[in-house]
Amino acid sequence: MKILFVCLGNICRSPIAETVFNQLLAEKGLTEHYEIDSAGLDNYHEGELADPRMRRHAELHGYNITHRSRPIKPSDFNHFDLILGMDPSNIRELLSRASEANRHKIKLLGDYCQQHTVDAIPDPYLGVDKDFEYVIELVEDACAGLLLEIESNGEHTRS
Ligand code: 4NP
Repeated sequence: MKILFVCLGNICRSPIAETVFNQLLAEKGLTEHYEIDSAGLDNYHEGELADPRMRRHAELHGYNITHRSRPIKPSDFNHFDLILGMDPSNIRELLSRASEANRHKIKLLGDYCQQHTVDAIPDPYLGVDKDFEYVIELVEDACAGLLLEIESNGEHTRS
């Protein structure tokens, strides 16, 4: 199973989602069954580590983000089985770039939350500490729900 987490800059939301999901896989001994990556819809931060504020908050929760920002590329839409955007604007942009055959792979990460009901994992870039904490809270909820759904469907065994 190949999963790509996508946000705008690939320095805040999608790198923490990638890291949280990878940690869940490691805890459950499932790492070898998955390929996980993240990417941005823009390339403003290409090559950069995640935002220092996101890295600091991640560390407070026991996560070490090592990803470097990269823009999404056309081949990603064929390569990955599931492409998860963070907000409705990400989803609109992803749908506009995907071919008809790949559009079914595009989903909103927040829809997998089990504790929260949200329309978006909000962009924290212009925010303050509590906004970064809220992203982590939602991402942890959504990643747990996502893994549960995939594993309960036996989906990871297909690729
Ligand atoms: P992200 O946050 O999409 O969660 O990585 C942002 C990072 C950078 C910008 C916007 C959002 N920016 O405008 O540079």
